[in-house]
Amino acid sequence: MGKGLLTNAYSYRDGALHCEDVPAETIAIAAGTPVFVYSAAVVRDRYRALAAALSGTPSRIHYSLKANGNRALLSLLRELGSGVDVVSGGELAKAIRAGYRGEDVICGGVGKTAREIREAIQARLKLINVESRAELDLVNAIAGEVGATVPIGFRVNPEVAIANAHEYIATGSRGHKFGIPRGDVVATAQAALAMPHVRLVGLDMHVGSQLATLDPYRDGLRRLEGLIGEVRRVGAPLRYVDVGGGLPVAYVAGDPEPDLDGFGSLVGEAMRRLDMELIVEPGRFFSAACGVMLTRVLYRKSSGGKEYVIADAGMNDLIRPSHYDAVHRVTAVRPTGRRVTADLVGPICETGDFLALDRDMDDVAVGDLVAVHEAGAYSYVMASNYNARPRAAEVMVDGHRFAVVTARETYDDLMRLELDDPNWRDA
Ligand code: LLP
Repeated sequence: MGKGLLTNAYSYRDGALHCEDVPAETIAIAAGTPVFVYSAAVVRDRYRALAAALSGTPSRIHYSLKANGNRALLSLLRELGSGVDVVSGGELAKAIRAGYRGEDVICGGVGKTAREIREAIQARLKLINVESRAELDLVNAIAGEVGATVPIGFRVNPEVAIANAHEYIATGSRGHKFGIPRGDVVATAQAALAMPHVRLVGLDMHVGSQLATLDPYRDGLRRLEGLIGEVRRVGAPLRYVDVGGGLPVAYVAGDPEPDLDGFGSLVGEAMRRLDMELIVEPGRFFSAACGVMLTRVLYRKSSGGKEYVIADAGMNDLIRPSHYDAVHRVTAVRPTGRRVTADLVGPICETGDFLALDRDMDDVAVGDLVAVHEAGAYSYVMASNYNARPRAAEVMVDGHRFAVVTARETYDDLMRLELDDPNWRDA
């Protein structure tokens, strides 16, 4: 973990994994498995660490809700002072339900619908980050209908290549679908300045996720600074620079640590040069390390010389290993000291359903609990009902207390929206 970040929220006491002061076994018994567990202490610690790194800079942290939209987590971050970054009408609704006000919310997304744009305008968000000329026209038109003048930012594609990340989570390279291409920004700004219902107040970038070094931020910011100069010269009253998310999380030993001090100086110096306010949109940085997924071993078997640990969580619960080749640490909740090299797989009817492949891991027996670590971000939010599996429960831990904050889905939930008596109509 990064310098100064809490490292012992998940620890072994008397041979058993605890989250803060709560035994993982207690949670699994109370909530069943699979279950996602989140540590409030980790969220608080990381919020304070990032806020401290940014303390000399006019700035606001807008947590990227897409990483984990659990209401208890959102409320905790709100109490700490965070705003949020939303990318859909559903995320905006969740943010509002968690108590965020319009001024605490910025909104992005390459494919906002007219309805989502209208909802964002009516909620009086701090900023709508626009990603294309066509979207700009629509935002201006809808704002006109609503009778509002809307603060907007442009998400710019800074065209920065990033190393070492899975190609699905690099977003700011030339030709990606996101943002306004660098070369089109000034002309699009001139178009915005001629529109009565938008006010261009920010430029935004998000170069990618899990950024191993500060270089992509540095390169992106340099390009953004050049554009800010040009956009100001054509008359836009720019106030915000949004550098997106991307602070990394160490999933396994050797993974990059977030360099918060370096990040703070880099963005701080840029804001002083520009005399602007910073927005950051970290998602994973707050939510990944706060979470584990607990799953119970259903079976052991060997096949063709391979060992399998078959657990009750699968790719529908945690898709990152199969979708991004992500490697999550896996430990037994009560390790015996014995080791095994095995595939940890789930019950889904796909060979791509795995949580760990060829892993040297704690040997576990049927009925044992396994913890999949750093599983708080892009996990529950990406869960599906594939194979008609109800989604897992979510539990928040705070010190010696814990609560189920999202109930496990039931079979009824799986069928709730299917109509018994569909209304057939003639076309
Ligand atoms: N801002 C924008 C515009 C984004 O697109 C993202 C993430 C973030 C902020 C937050 O990025 P973070 O700080 O979490 O890296 N499902 C993938 C990650 C997808 C990231 C999408 N955008 C995964 O599990 O690795």
